[in-house]
Amino acid sequence: MQARGPLMIEHRLIERMLSVVKGVLADIESTHEVDPVFVDVAVDFIRMYADRTHHGKEEDILFRELNDKPLNEKDRKIMKELIDEHVFGRHTTKALVEANARYRNGDDTALTEIAARLQTLAEFYPRHIEKEDKVFFPASRAYFTDEEDQAMLSEFWEFDRRMIHEKYETLVEGLEI
Ligand SMILES: [Fe+2]
Ligand SMILES: [Fe+2]
Repeated sequence: MQARGPLMIEHRLIERMLSVVKGVLADIESTHEVDPVFVDVAVDFIRMYADRTHHGKEEDILFRELNDKPLNEKDRKIMKELIDEHVFGRHTTKALVEANARYRNGDDTALTEIAARLQTLAEFYPRHIEKEDKVFFPASRAYFTDEEDQAMLSEFWEFDRRMIHEKYETLVEGLEI
């Protein structure tokens, strides 16, 4: 498997989650309410899986390695866009968490904000994923030898191996406060 293999497999799971989110958005439209626990679960998926585990491998390994390569102007511009989009995703998720807290505390007006933020995530992520799958990953592969690509793949597996421990260490630390 090439290094981009696990990243593309992860994209498919993110897309499935976004389909679930779209279904919930349709429910919000018809019922004018949302289950705050669903929002918690969606946020956990976005933060732990899409951001920490998936963007983590992109930023901490793939983009780090590409930084040392003589990227042409177009590829460097796209890498910058991708990093900016990861940041945008984090800000949107933070706003979603804040709106969910307001909704839980009885502020019904927060529902509009929850729906808007979920809609933003459901619309922007597929475009981000397509840019990586169809444009950036194929272009970036050309900068690596087969050996370098396989070394990144090994580092991806090691990165993943740590994630489950990090998730639950963070959970316990949060409960200890
Ligand atoms: Fe990405
Ligand atoms: Fe990605």
